[in-house]
Amino acid sequence: MKAILICCLLILVASHESDYQNLLYGILQGSELITPITPLNCKTLISRFQKPYLFDRPWKKVISDTSVLSETCGFNAAYETLQGFMQFPQIFEKFLIKLDDSIENDRLFPESNLQKYGISVGMIMKPFLALVIPTVLDFEFSNKFMSLKSGKHPIAIFHGLGDSCYYSGNIEFTEYIRKNVGTYTKCVEIGDGSNSSWLEPFQSQAIQACERIKEETEYSNGLSIIGLSQGGLIARYIAEACGVPVHVIVTIGTPHMGVATMPYCLNGFYCDVINDVTSKDAYGLFSQSNIGPPGYFNDPNNYESYLENSSFLADLNNEKFINTTFIEKMQSLNHLVLIKFTEDSAISPIESAWFGYFEGGNVVPFNQTKSYLKNTLGLQQLYSENKLHFIEIEGEHLNFNEEEFTELILPYLLD
Ligand SMILES: *[C@@H]1O[C@H](CO)[C@@H](O)[C@H](O)[C@H]1NC(C)=O
Ligand SMILES: *[C@@H]1O[C@H](CO)[C@@H](O)[C@H](O)[C@H]1NC(C)=O
Ligand SMILES: *[C@@H]1O[C@H](CO)[C@@H](O)[C@H](O)[C@H]1NC(C)=O
Ligand SMILES: *[C@@H]1O[C@H](CO)[C@@H](O)[C@H](O)[C@H]1NC(C)=O
Repeated sequence: MKAILICCLLILVASHESDYQNLLYGILQGSELITPITPLNCKTLISRFQKPYLFDRPWKKVISDTSVLSETCGFNAAYETLQGFMQFPQIFEKFLIKLDDSIENDRLFPESNLQKYGISVGMIMKPFLALVIPTVLDFEFSNKFMSLKSGKHPIAIFHGLGDSCYYSGNIEFTEYIRKNVGTYTKCVEIGDGSNSSWLEPFQSQAIQACERIKEETEYSNGLSIIGLSQGGLIARYIAEACGVPVHVIVTIGTPHMGVATMPYCLNGFYCDVINDVTSKDAYGLFSQSNIGPPGYFNDPNNYESYLENSSFLADLNNEKFINTTFIEKMQSLNHLVLIKFTEDSAISPIESAWFGYFEGGNVVPFNQTKSYLKNTLGLQQLYSENKLHFIEIEGEHLNFNEEEFTELILPYLLD
């Protein structure tokens, strides 16, 4: 009740159109749909009186106005993302509950400046946007945990689908790793980031990643790699096929055995095409040679077709034929750390993050898959030598915090 009251009051207070406009700017900025926005980017005024209230909760109206603002200002990707977000009523509802909760606990009201307030709201939205388009890493760096140990190997970080090394989540995360591991650390970009992760075939993303690693003299004696989401497949490609020694791999929400449903693309003008062709024909030549995610599509109902048509994952997993180099390289890892999120809605099945997958219609754990039983990647040795680590984090895709990382994962990077 209090939440609704404060919320309505706030919107009333914003009776000046420009105040209201600033609130909407703040939301776009805080959710990273637009990088720093100033009124100069967009002179159109959105008035809160422009459209009648159609929603049961005022915040639904505010978010819809934010989307109108991005549309009228030509921020098309932001517009499409917000529209898409609103089309997932359950996720949208969860966001509103979280927002009510923050308002209830007065965590949001230190400022009279409405743009700052909007930024707080946008930051609360960020992890929820990540559910419908897995672009956003919900990670905040504080200086709380400074480790005394330091690592031995330089670190490369590869981000996930639709993400970029320049988004603040990745900047903070990279900074956290640099400080806590204490060695050379870089978020390594493939192509232009977000666009490339969708629009380049996965095989060519992996080849580029290998080239980027070889260009860095800091990595020439070997490195450890952290891969977020699909970045974890890149990490494995580098270990198996790039010819650079890799010591530790940490994968965070990575579909090692593939995905049974295509990730849904929301952010960008090209998404219509992507969603259309991948839903109809993920193994088709067009999809496999023009779009990233089909490279790790693994149709649980048609293994033969996967073997024949997968342009990336079936090779990486040694499922077409055995490349013994891949096995040797995997077995030479000091640690392979696999993080799974209990409520991951970006990866289906979730178990893929731990090398589990569909087998005869059911999802089975890693040690009951064909690949493991045939030992196509040498995981049996890693397992028996205690080098294969299964870590579970509660919550959604890539939704982890500093404490969890420090406690559960950092020790492997320091070893
Ligand atoms: C992504 O592609 C679109 C269309 O070509 C372009 O407008 C946009 O600037 C690109 N984004 C980046 C980060 O290059
Ligand atoms: C196995 O993989 C390595 C590394 O990519 C490659 O150089 C080699 O040619 C492959 N071997 C076979 C038999 O394909
Ligand atoms: C995939 O492989 C199957 C054989 O298993 C083949 O018949 C089919 O034409 C290929 N292409 C697609 C798009 O499935
Ligand atoms: C599979 O791995 C789990 C977890 O390590 C273990 O408890 C179980 O006994 C293993 N099952 C088989 C068949 O090896």
